[in-house]
Amino acid sequence: MAISISLTVNGAPVTTEVEPHILLVQFLRDQLRLTGTHIGCDTAQCGACTVHLNGRAIKSCNMLAVQADGADVTTIEGLAVNGELHPMQAAFRNCHGLQCGFCTPGMVMSATALVQTHPDATEADVRQHLDGNLCRCTGYHNIVKAVLEGAAGMKSGANATAKAIA
Ligand code: FES
Ligand code: FES
Repeated sequence: MAISISLTVNGAPVTTEVEPHILLVQFLRDQLRLTGTHIGCDTAQCGACTVHLNGRAIKSCNMLAVQADGADVTTIEGLAVNGELHPMQAAFRNCHGLQCGFCTPGMVMSATALVQTHPDATEADVRQHLDGNLCRCTGYHNIVKAVLEGAAGMKSGANATAKAIA
């Protein structure tokens, strides 16, 4: 039996019905068509499905959609403002922090959440924080570089979204 939920997704209110067994990632991708959030493993290991829930990075394959009732969810589609990339997205582009790009939305969401709580994160902090985000292409070096550059961009307030998700 479907259950009614109300939440905010990328700043917009959403009220809809979901089946109780539907994962949050399935809800975002299949019902809301926010397909930037990827499914790499479905077992909470790869981090490709990372989104922000009430400002914290979570793996959206690891919770049910009904558990997000009343929450504020941000997906990768919610980071850019008026077509302007979020500083973390821009840094991934500048630093070549991606190859196939499959892991990238999860990496960016995880990285932005880290910088919100640890604006002065060191390289060691970044490497430790991204422990739950797997990339099979890049070797991580440019990803770490991108996160540090993105952190600097977020600190300088280059994008209003960085403040909005604080
Ligand atoms: Fe969620 Fe891999 S799809 S952690
Ligand atoms: Fe391909 Fe990370 S860029 S999995």
